[in-house]
Amino acid sequence: MTRQLFVTTALPYANGNFHIGHIMEYIQADIWVRYQRMMGNAVDFCGADDTHGAPIMIAAEKAGITPQQFVANIAAGRKPYLDGFHIRFDNWHSTDAPENHALAQAIYRSLRDHKDGSLIEVRTIEQFFDPEKNMFLPDRFIKGECPKCHSADQYGDNCEQCGAVYAPTDLINPFSALSGAKPELKSSEHFFFKLSDPRCVAFLESWTQDGKLQPEVANKIKEWFTVRTNPDGTTSEGLGDWDISRDAPYFGIEIPDAPGKYFYVWLDAPIGYLASLKNLCTKRGVDYEAYMANPLLEQYHFIGKDIVTFHTLFWPATLHFSGRKTPNNVFVHGFLTVNNGEKMSKSRGTGLDPLKYLKLGMNPEWLRYYLAAKLSARNEDIDFNADDFMARVNADLIGKFVNIASRAAGFLTKRFDGKFGTVGEDGAALLHDMRGQSSAIAQLYEAREYAKAMKETMSLADRVNAFVDANKPWELAKHPEQTARLQDVCTVCLKAFRILTCYLKPVLPELAAQVERFLNIAPLSFANITQPLEAGHVIDTYQHLMQRVDAKQLDALFEPLEQVEQAHIATELAANAKAGDKKTAKAAAPAVAADPTAPGGEAVAPTITIDDFAKIDLRIAKILSCTAVAGSTKLLQLTLDAGEQDEAGQPKTRNVFSGIASMYQPEQLVGKLTVLVANLAPRKMKFGVSEGMVLAASHADEKAQPGIYVLEPFAGAQPGMRIH
Ligand code: MSP
Ligand code: ZN
Repeated sequence: MTRQLFVTTALPYANGNFHIGHIMEYIQADIWVRYQRMMGNAVDFCGADDTHGAPIMIAAEKAGITPQQFVANIAAGRKPYLDGFHIRFDNWHSTDAPENHALAQAIYRSLRDHKDGSLIEVRTIEQFFDPEKNMFLPDRFIKGECPKCHSADQYGDNCEQCGAVYAPTDLINPFSALSGAKPELKSSEHFFFKLSDPRCVAFLESWTQDGKLQPEVANKIKEWFTVRTNPDGTTSEGLGDWDISRDAPYFGIEIPDAPGKYFYVWLDAPIGYLASLKNLCTKRGVDYEAYMANPLLEQYHFIGKDIVTFHTLFWPATLHFSGRKTPNNVFVHGFLTVNNGEKMSKSRGTGLDPLKYLKLGMNPEWLRYYLAAKLSARNEDIDFNADDFMARVNADLIGKFVNIASRAAGFLTKRFDGKFGTVGEDGAALLHDMRGQSSAIAQLYEAREYAKAMKETMSLADRVNAFVDANKPWELAKHPEQTARLQDVCTVCLKAFRILTCYLKPVLPELAAQVERFLNIAPLSFANITQPLEAGHVIDTYQHLMQRVDAKQLDALFEPLEQVEQAHIATELAANAKAGDKKTAKAAAPAVAADPTAPGGEAVAPTITIDDFAKIDLRIAKILSCTAVAGSTKLLQLTLDAGEQDEAGQPKTRNVFSGIASMYQPEQLVGKLTVLVANLAPRKMKFGVSEGMVLAASHADEKAQPGIYVLEPFAGAQPGMRIH
């Protein structure tokens, strides 16, 4: 039976362009959507920009434009990314659109006027006020220590370390991230969603624990319901009420009958899923209410691990108690890190910029395949590793899969007018086995076990290649008496290639379309794969399907790119996308040279917020020892004291490798203070693990202007002090 599916990805904040983590989420969902369509299911795949909230309001103010203009600018830049990576949303909308204003207000009214008693309560609360900025401080602009896990430097609304959700006033030692001032408490009326109401608790306990969610996700959520007795005898209640209002000035949706009050962005953001769908319905002339009333409609949200609470507690409760359909499931993925999670250094660039990837002429389907080969249904982080990427694409995708077609098609075209022959017993058995995997592979897609689906498919490709090696068409071609066998073997290869292409089609939609054209066949689906192509079927001339990854492209990808060049790429791609030009990204790699007119040889990096800066934990560290590294002319090995202790309370040191041997003798550095990037992910190097990075200055063109200078603080700084 045909299923009717409504699928979304998380709505990205409209405060910046997509980064590679967003692209990963969209590719994961897009693969699933394409798979569903291949199964004959009807899918509506919706996205939107998440536009509201204080950070965007403040960013717009800084840029001197209205928040509406600000988010419109961001929205205008989305298309090249989505088109570029073959991510095909049916609709892309905005949480500031009229549909969302209307839906959010209607949903709120239903909660407030609930027939079994209101689920909204107004309370006067004490809230942080920035006495320097003269405004109530948004959660994201108050920072401090997490009240649950005591991680330092957490935002006012939730902890990125332990995932706890709390009120800013629960933070320990809070400070204003706007001014640095110590915030003052001031009272204000706020609107609460009474999640602690027994109706909500009962509903959510069953909704989250009925087995639909990933087990690791459900287990984590369980903790939120637990009533605990604290060491001081007080009890922490389970589910707390949720503050859903914010005071003006705020960029958001007005709360009905409450002048000067706005919905907190996380109330209206997921409603944006529905707003985007409703907008799509309008475009199609479909009745939205009727669409939603279909009892067979299935609703799924793909999200990252950082926003689970919003999607598995607040969102289902909001929907259920406003009399709406709740999601059938929420699919949680881990984070994508790049090259072992290391923050990109200057020499390796600033990370993996998706537009730059396209601009370099790198094939979007390489990335889709690589991510598919790593993604599972579990909430686990995955890493983009340049060497691994090249190996998987070149050895597996091209070496095992694409090459099958190039090996067989030439003979068929040149020797047999592109005509399929009959298939011998051995070939028929192979094809039969390959078709037999169809439902197993479909199941893996359904379960979002893409890595397993890729593995199964590649092991089928291995069998096809073994068949080729056993029959050696290039040998058969030399012997006229083997002509019939040559046609047979090549026919088997191309029929096998057709099946493999079907299994990879959700991941490689463009390549599959090319194959469909060249094999001269109807669009591949899991259903029609069982219908064999008859002898006498004629293929079109084979054209090369996919290039190999060149190491130079990866080097260029991680080279720093100047701001000007970045802007240039965005406009160029947007223009191409508009012109419908498919060949968007064929331009050669821009040569990234040092700019002699810029200070230090390079343009200043794009503007960041104080929050971005606060993510980098810089500490004073004392160089306890320093030694040369055998086998390296560049590195020195440093042992650093950054004021840390181990679990037993003993002083703990860090091991750091630094590329400064050209400038310093080890003994020059011992006993000096310097600056350590203390929260940099540890990095495995040839000589050992480096647990951080020491700051040093150099010219962008190190060849022309050699010299690297380690930073040293003024007198008085002590190991462990943070640099603000
Ligand atoms: N605006 C909210 C979501 C509202 S949904 C109603 C938000 N936006 S976000 O731009 O910060 O993140 C959007 C999505 O990208 C989230 O699912 C988030 O988990 C995901 N990712 C952000 N960084 C990521 C990686 N490094 N890797 C994979 N996904 C990542 O949260
Ligand atoms: Zn915490």
